[in-house]
Amino acid sequence: GTVQDLSTMLSSLGLSEKITKFPDSNPEANPIDIFRCYIAEVLAKVSGVDSVLIYPALEWTNQFEKGDLILAVPRLKVKGKVPSELAKEWAEKFPPNDYIKPPVATGVFLQFFFSESLLPKLIIPQILRNPRSYGPSPTGNGKRVIVEFSSPNIAKPFHAGHLRSTIIGGFLANLYEACGWEVIRMNYLGDWGKQFGVLAVGFARHGSERELEEDAIHHLFDVYVKVNQDIAAEKDATATKDEAGNVLKDGTSTTDDEARAFFVRLEGGDKDAYALWARFRDLSIVKYKETYARLNIKYDVYSGESQVSKESMEKAAKILEEKGLSQKDEGAVIIDLTPHNKKLGKAIIQKKDGTSLYLTRDIGAAMERWEKYKFDKMIYVVACQQDLHLQQLFTILKLMGFEWADRCAHINFGMVLGMSTRAGTVKFLDDILREVKDKMHEVMKTNPDKYKLVENPEEVAEVVGRTGVMIQDMSGKRINGYPFDMDRMTSFEGDTGPYLQYAHSRLCSITRKAGIQEEKLLTADHVKHLAGSTHAVNLIRALAQFPDVILNTMKTQEPTTIVTYLFKMTHLLSSSYDVLRVVGEEEGVASARLALYESARMVLRNGMELLGLTPVERM
Ligand code: ARG
Repeated sequence: GTVQDLSTMLSSLGLSEKITKFPDSNPEANPIDIFRCYIAEVLAKVSGVDSVLIYPALEWTNQFEKGDLILAVPRLKVKGKVPSELAKEWAEKFPPNDYIKPPVATGVFLQFFFSESLLPKLIIPQILRNPRSYGPSPTGNGKRVIVEFSSPNIAKPFHAGHLRSTIIGGFLANLYEACGWEVIRMNYLGDWGKQFGVLAVGFARHGSERELEEDAIHHLFDVYVKVNQDIAAEKDATATKDEAGNVLKDGTSTTDDEARAFFVRLEGGDKDAYALWARFRDLSIVKYKETYARLNIKYDVYSGESQVSKESMEKAAKILEEKGLSQKDEGAVIIDLTPHNKKLGKAIIQKKDGTSLYLTRDIGAAMERWEKYKFDKMIYVVACQQDLHLQQLFTILKLMGFEWADRCAHINFGMVLGMSTRAGTVKFLDDILREVKDKMHEVMKTNPDKYKLVENPEEVAEVVGRTGVMIQDMSGKRINGYPFDMDRMTSFEGDTGPYLQYAHSRLCSITRKAGIQEEKLLTADHVKHLAGSTHAVNLIRALAQFPDVILNTMKTQEPTTIVTYLFKMTHLLSSSYDVLRVVGEEEGVASARLALYESARMVLRNGMELLGLTPVERM
């Protein structure tokens, strides 16, 4: 198991010192916390500052030159003394020890560098003993989160917004789960509204049972396009125009009227209308499930706008009325949110004809989710175009008096530009994945020697291509958009998906070629063979940061926090291969180095899997 008492852990490392475990520390999962606990305790004695203040101020750094942990002295708010003086004074007074080198004072900062002879024996066995669990700390134990993501609209294209929501949401769900949360993955389909009337009429005219069974998503979209063309043509033919052909008065469409009538029947609970709608929905979900599976995503709940009950929306309407929040406005019902926040404007919650809206359904859905799941947190992964919508939603829930409104969060993201590709046929998720797979396959063929060695090129192309799409999406901050660039995402140059996969497969090949027994890796003398090499030490320092990187990702909620780290780590790896060879070395050296590479492979794999990727072993 991973749970070990701190003192047993320390004595197994040959350290006898007594270190108090801080309440927030997690040394079993995060070995860096040992250093944190130690520094906090010692520095408290040196400085007279409470260790409880020092502990959280010890932060990890992005550059090794700045130390493994860094403390900004002003954060401790010591009165009457200049921070830079304090830094110097404390550095001088810090007693020599087995954990860290003498601290370095630079300006108002105190930099701490871990002892090179402690790091290898602390980190490498920790990773190799429990490779699967290295990284996440169990900070979410006992807590439940709903992650709502992807949420496409049936019969409409799966656009870039859905793609990003799928990738980012899938990642967040993995992240929370890894940190001990109970995660409910929810897909809130756009599966209600007048378009289903249009679709039903269109299906009777243009539809095919066989095609519906085969691929509901594409077929329903085709039907939807065709019937909308019918509607446009009818309107055009009946419009009043002047001699030049300018429309003076819009035309009418009997198809449109039929569609509206169908939706009225559907809303009224008509059995036949409902049965047809249910088939559209169910068959679309069958197809979606297949595609999501290619991305390693599996939902716990396929919810949707259609699933929100009338009762909860009526209940919401009643609360809003009783609290004096809603008002009638020319037959419609609105909520004026401007007194609470000018930017939020007025929100309509009921149309003149009494029907509900997107916002109304979201209010009802949130209430139902609370009743059913009593979540500690609920995350909506939705494009930033809907910032206003979600702000309105959260504000309304809060005004309704739900204390759980504060548990809701909108994780937003920017736009993707130019996602329609060469053929211009990309409309759905599986099209995107197919296109990028084909492109990746082409790229792989440009290196015939290597290509010959790949056993299952189609499969590798699929996995690596998909990695390209996902890494491109997760490389920047979420709020930044990016151009959908097929050439870039399938390239091996620079920080791309294929590069990351290559780094992983290269580590696999080192292990294969070395042919060293697994037991030898743990028993090797890591300190003797690694502590003297800057390359090895820096790599270990990077591996030691992984748990902190994940903790930090829980704060940023940004996949790039992990992506950036993984690239930094793989760069350190590439520069180590020539210096730290395995094949042809004496067994003790080879085993210690392989132990390092294997540890790196575990971290890379764990990180990639958190991102939702499937690391390949050969490519
Ligand atoms: N189906 C919506 C769309 O495609 C996204 C749904 C987002 N989630 C929500 N609870 N409103 O725009």
